[in-house]
Amino acid sequence: MLRNDQLDAWDRDNFFHPSTHLAEFARGNLPQRVVTGGSGCHIEDRDGTRLLDAFAGLYCVNVGYGRPEIAEAIADQARELAYYHSYVGHGTEASITLAKMILDRAPDNMSKVYFGLSGSDANETNIKLVWYMNNILGRPEKKKIISRWRGYHGSGVMTGSLTGLELFHNKFDLPLAQVIHTDAPYYFRRDVAEMSEAQFVAACVASLEELIAREGADTIAAFIGEPALGTGGIVPPPAGYWQAIQAVLDKHDILLIADEVVTGFGRLGTMFGSDHYGMRPDIITIAKGLTSAYAPLSGSIVSDKVWAVLEQGTDENGPIGHGWTYSAHPIGAAAGVANLKLLDDLKLLQNAGEVGTYLNRTMAEALADHPHVGEVRGEGLLCAVEFVADKETRAFFDASQKVGPQLAAAMLEGDSVIARAMPQGDILGFAPPFCLTRDEADQVVAATVRAVKTVLG
Ligand SMILES: Cc1ncc(COP(=O)(O)O)c(C=O)c1O
Repeated sequence: MLRNDQLDAWDRDNFFHPSTHLAEFARGNLPQRVVTGGSGCHIEDRDGTRLLDAFAGLYCVNVGYGRPEIAEAIADQARELAYYHSYVGHGTEASITLAKMILDRAPDNMSKVYFGLSGSDANETNIKLVWYMNNILGRPEKKKIISRWRGYHGSGVMTGSLTGLELFHNKFDLPLAQVIHTDAPYYFRRDVAEMSEAQFVAACVASLEELIAREGADTIAAFIGEPALGTGGIVPPPAGYWQAIQAVLDKHDILLIADEVVTGFGRLGTMFGSDHYGMRPDIITIAKGLTSAYAPLSGSIVSDKVWAVLEQGTDENGPIGHGWTYSAHPIGAAAGVANLKLLDDLKLLQNAGEVGTYLNRTMAEALADHPHVGEVRGEGLLCAVEFVADKETRAFFDASQKVGPQLAAAMLEGDSVIARAMPQGDILGFAPPFCLTRDEADQVVAATVRAVKTVLG
């Protein structure tokens, strides 16, 4: 292929990159990488560098790169019918089939799926549906949404508000007033070191109860949470957390939205994180793993209980005033159908569970005793290593030291392995494709160990 040597300059001059230090990038002080190909767990750039992608893009290329089955499904759909809308009863074979495949895999009480394009827009849909629902039910005051600090639900106006990370609020005038935050189920960062997991769960519950009492249960519509926190640090909840939270929500008639954008379709080794933790959500958000990101597609799966009110609403008010041009886009839907088939055919959920357990175990064996490793944690094919300045006190490194980013850079330079420096704290995150082999898991662990030695000794 002819090399276009102007790409780096064009990139700096024209391209507004998300989640990037814009000024440093424009000045040419940040690395640039033009990605040209991918196969299995590896990507390749235009300089011929091959990298083991232990974060599956942004935890989304779950079936791995370069799957011809999905590429062909997309091409066939584009040739046959690239686009038609899904308003007022229109559909395509792909979108209807995918809706059925999703419902076949979802918890039993789920009823219908509304398709969007991104995790953010799906969560925007969810909040609108919850508000609509409470208006139809004659309780217009019941509108606030509880989210958790360190939760990640997108970066729109509403979803950026739901997200509980400062970077996504600062200077954007967020969060909106309708969004209130409660504690993250982050046992490692508990205030009182002596607390047991059970005591910590009780403290999370007490603080949620306090928040509800302060705001008034009749003002709170829903609670949104990822089954296991993702971007906020890859933090699986302590045992019993979801059962305890669910009981509080039931008591106060507060809906549960399970944001399964990361955990949906196998990342924890089960089809949904809700299955894994025994959650009983009213709405489930899906995206990333629905198509393994071969095409943009997301969804809001609504339960029978929600659907019944939506039907009542349209009987009373006419068609629902919600819809996007690209909702249920046929190309995304075709990618979704092929992707879910591939997950089954290759038994990738099973592999995610098995190799995930192996990766978490070997990572812990290799690093848990290091003086600057506070915790190695994970579930399924999610794994995180949290670094601390002092193991005893769990003290943070000074943020200016950028320990997390330094470690990720060292892994990239030393071993061509991509890990993600998670945005708040010094945490290396791993969420590889489900086709990861044990040998590749060993490479990831070895690269992490070497980077820790280089950066922290
Ligand atoms: C749990 C969760 N919800 C929502 C989103 C937002 O998805 P998107 O970036 O597709 O808008 C993400 C993205 O990482 C996510 O991890």
